[in-house]
Amino acid sequence: MKLKRRIPVANPEIGQEELANVIKAVKEGWISSRGEFISEFEKLFASFIGVRHVIACSSGTAALHLALLALGVKHGDEVIVPDITFAAPANMVIAVGAKPVFVDVNKEYWCIEPSEIRRKITPRTKAIIVVHLYGHPAKMDEIMEIAEDNDLYVIEDCAEAHGAKFRGKIVGSIGHVDCFSFYANKIITTGEGGMVTTNDDEIADKVRLYRDHGMRPRYWHIVPGFNYRMTNLQAAIGVAQVKKLPKLIEKKRWIAEMYRELLEDISGLIHHPEMEWAHCVYWLYSILIEKDLKITRDELMRELEKEGIETRYFFKPLHLMPAYKEHVVAKENFSVSTYLAERGLNLPSGPRITEEEITYVASTLRKIIKRH
Ligand SMILES: Cc1ncc(COP(=O)(O)O)c(C=O)c1O
Repeated sequence: MKLKRRIPVANPEIGQEELANVIKAVKEGWISSRGEFISEFEKLFASFIGVRHVIACSSGTAALHLALLALGVKHGDEVIVPDITFAAPANMVIAVGAKPVFVDVNKEYWCIEPSEIRRKITPRTKAIIVVHLYGHPAKMDEIMEIAEDNDLYVIEDCAEAHGAKFRGKIVGSIGHVDCFSFYANKIITTGEGGMVTTNDDEIADKVRLYRDHGMRPRYWHIVPGFNYRMTNLQAAIGVAQVKKLPKLIEKKRWIAEMYRELLEDISGLIHHPEMEWAHCVYWLYSILIEKDLKITRDELMRELEKEGIETRYFFKPLHLMPAYKEHVVAKENFSVSTYLAERGLNLPSGPRITEEEITYVASTLRKIIKRH
């Protein structure tokens, strides 16, 4: 039986609470980047992550740019970036004039591989950007140790991992300065929006300065800065969203459990990992389509789409893209990111997905695989 509506890969859970807050902000006239919702959102997010400073900004990309500026990363520096991620970290490294150095990921849990980081460190390396891919945390103890041994900064990119934990420690509280995105498909959203988190007073001060035009006091510019502020309207949505965050994470983990149970017995499917040291938040529940299946990942996507099921292929390896060609040394080995990019598929995982829809996705997937 085909369901009537198309099942999207992600959709935001926004309702009456968000609407009421936005109406309040509009009625009171606080629609720019001043207003009570900004500080309330920052306070609630700080208490969720358990850090001293959180700085709301206009996007996850802006958060990464601000983090790199605050650390003083500049022309001549190198920054380590995983080869498989959404490209914003690499783009922001280039935006500050530095060079992204791509590093392969771990085959079991898909995040940056610590031993590969060690191999790529040079005297010019200044920082490591860690991406907690699709909600699974990276191996933060080893990464922090490498950083300490080599006097490097760590930036956690938590855009896809609100609430994920590494050995009980929440991501966004482990690196020197960390970043979140609140784009509409993320675990919580403000439409567009981002957050920088840190326990370091000096870094926090610089992030605020660069976010606000580099201006202090008014009309006096200490550094050439940006306008990367979040609006009170975005924060109005954020306040309602952050209150729902524990429930949304629970839902993501329930979605993962459902898919795993329903698809467990199909050989040739590799499921979204959760290492014993990880608490994964399954931003998008993901599977790998192994070679021994008769159907390719792309054929499977096309057939699912015909049945009203939207899926998404994994991010592409950055080292293959024209944008970063000059930063790649020929003959470098990226076997894991290449393998994941060819075989990875994100299944519908939006917070509004129902049990009936997950069952439909799983049974359709099984039917298509059986047919081939
Ligand atoms: C890992 C990662 N970093 C950064 C971003 C950029 O965030 P934004 O879209 O809020 O700029 C995204 C996704 O959007 C992402 O997945």
